[in-house]
Amino acid sequence: MRKFITIFIITFLISPSASKAQETSRFFKEKDLVTTGIYYYPEHWDEAQWERDIKKIAEMGFEFVHLAEFAWFKMEPQEARFDFNWLDRVVNLCTRYHLKVLLCTPSATTPTWMRVNYPETFVMDGHYIRAENGTRGLESIVNSKYRDFVKKVVAEMARRYGQNKDVIGWQIDNEPGAVPDYSPASQEAFRTWLKNKYKTIDALNTAWGAAFWSQWFNSFDQVIIPNTNLVGWWGNNPHALLDFKRYSADSQADFLDFQAGILRDYISKAQFVTTNYTAVCTGSDPRRTRKLDFAAYTAYPNGDTDNIGESGFRLGNSDVVLFASEYYKSVGGVSGVMEIQPGPVNWGSYNPLLLPGTVRLWLYHGFAAGGKIACSYRFRQILYGAEQYHAGVIQTDGVTPSQGGKDYMQFMKEIADLRKQFKPETKMLAKLAARSTAILWNVENYWSIDRQKQTGQWNTWDYPVKFLKTAKSLGAPVDVIQETTDLSKYKVVIVPAYEMVDAALVKKWNDYVTKGGHLIITCRTATKDRRGHFWEGEAAMPILNLIGAHIHQTDMLSSYGKGDVLMNSNHYSWHSWADLLLPDTTTAVLVTYNNQFYKGTAAAVVHKIGRGSVTYIGVDTDDFKLEKDLLQKIYKEAGATTEDYPPGVFVYWRDGFYTALNYSSENYTVNLPDTAKILIGEKVLKPAGVLIWKE
Ligand code: GAL
Repeated sequence: MRKFITIFIITFLISPSASKAQETSRFFKEKDLVTTGIYYYPEHWDEAQWERDIKKIAEMGFEFVHLAEFAWFKMEPQEARFDFNWLDRVVNLCTRYHLKVLLCTPSATTPTWMRVNYPETFVMDGHYIRAENGTRGLESIVNSKYRDFVKKVVAEMARRYGQNKDVIGWQIDNEPGAVPDYSPASQEAFRTWLKNKYKTIDALNTAWGAAFWSQWFNSFDQVIIPNTNLVGWWGNNPHALLDFKRYSADSQADFLDFQAGILRDYISKAQFVTTNYTAVCTGSDPRRTRKLDFAAYTAYPNGDTDNIGESGFRLGNSDVVLFASEYYKSVGGVSGVMEIQPGPVNWGSYNPLLLPGTVRLWLYHGFAAGGKIACSYRFRQILYGAEQYHAGVIQTDGVTPSQGGKDYMQFMKEIADLRKQFKPETKMLAKLAARSTAILWNVENYWSIDRQKQTGQWNTWDYPVKFLKTAKSLGAPVDVIQETTDLSKYKVVIVPAYEMVDAALVKKWNDYVTKGGHLIITCRTATKDRRGHFWEGEAAMPILNLIGAHIHQTDMLSSYGKGDVLMNSNHYSWHSWADLLLPDTTTAVLVTYNNQFYKGTAAAVVHKIGRGSVTYIGVDTDDFKLEKDLLQKIYKEAGATTEDYPPGVFVYWRDGFYTALNYSSENYTVNLPDTAKILIGEKVLKPAGVLIWKE
């Protein structure tokens, strides 16, 4: 037991602490609801067209222009020779047409001279081959030479535009993704990171389980970045790889903070600093940054999977904005979409036309989830280059709005109308507050589980998203939260597959339940410590008292196997994961396995503690219907009513406005109360339809 506690204390001390929420209200006036913008790349176009384009942006109804991303070659055409006159002219045009400006630091694409003269400024891949210039994000962010160059260009920009009243904020870099870097600079930085973390090489050997397969190190100098490319899957050391992910995410966060620090030396407090993470972000960990005001995201719902019904491929994957809009809010309190797909893209396995209204649907999705920014990549469709087939809001003639452009104009006009309806200090209705739900998620568990999935049936990314979707289908307001979040404001907290825990976290869950909270813990939770080791004891040892059961064994099926579980008299099928539970005497069985050699064993249980309850769901069902039925039961027991929205229909509440969105291929009639006042749309929600009302 003592050993167990010691490990807890050590791992707690070294685990990354969450970023503090920042004060963001000064950047976005509540009554504006959301601010709209568009990416414009003047360097792609003849200067004679700049004024026409900027004027058009203003006429279409946009409020800010996103500038300077990827334009380093124009800002520093030769080393140490800076030229911002061209950018001054564009910024001045924006001022003339009453447009605000969001500036982007250009670090994601460097000028050719840098790669030619300083090849060390680029990452090396897993075969130690140096990346070339020509795309985005392949610079070595830990390389000091590259950082020197970044420092100079960012300082030049900040000095020049940091006090400009029309500049509202800054985006650092582009889609920072913590690209794995095996270059010598990164090897060195990794060793330094490990020394800071472990202090002694023996501590590292223990944490990495280096006794296995003779991986033992005599000194930090012997350590190289674990490289699955060269040792193959079997040679992977999950603990070393987990640390490499952590190091890469820390380096990425440090690089963003480094740039934010340079900006903050010069810019006014009225200008915000953010970046644009990808919606599905599995490399970076936005919660590791300390100097950004909030995190924005890019969303390309175009996708080949998870689209609903016959028109689904034209409506996109609803999970994209659904998860990102909640996840990124957990970083700085607010978020917004920096890039929404403006029409067909060029990189899908096929790139169909969108159903007219789809871009508007996505924009409203971001809005409904509380987004403060609604911006899109990009204004004009470019005539050349790798993205020439990628739509813009303006077509190739430079003047005609695309369908996405028309959708945008409608959205902006409607937002202007909604602003007039805004009433400050509107409180969430009691019926919604009674269902308020949080999903605890962090990317470290994603890294850890996805490396050792144990079954191809398990979808690490999807699993928490399915809970989010399910809670939304029952009409709950749902936040995606981090470990530091205060749980007391949530009626229900879901902890899906939260593999690595420590004593402090489990205590927090316990306290939440004792005070009346309804906690749902699922399979694959608390099976490891923060290093990724199993406990020297039973599976999920730290939570057994909490869930009131033992996890006797775990099963998984072949694709042709048949798994059947039973709740009351309802059957549900499963394949991917099944914890076989042995409940304590005070614990009630909710679900049992109904076939296989362990028929009759518990699959889900509920344990009452204090004024609350802990439900443990040990099985991952094929269509998530069991999870939905369990959730509904829990809301009911918590005294909350529920809705039953079909797949693809989402209803949100923000600032007094209800928004219903339809990603499905069928019409859906929204059941409105008599008190509802429709502001936008109709009760019958067509595919891609949006309805906004007040109650
Ligand atoms: C984004 C990226 C943009 C553009 C876009 C194309 O991921 O940030 O610069 O390349 O994809 O869809």
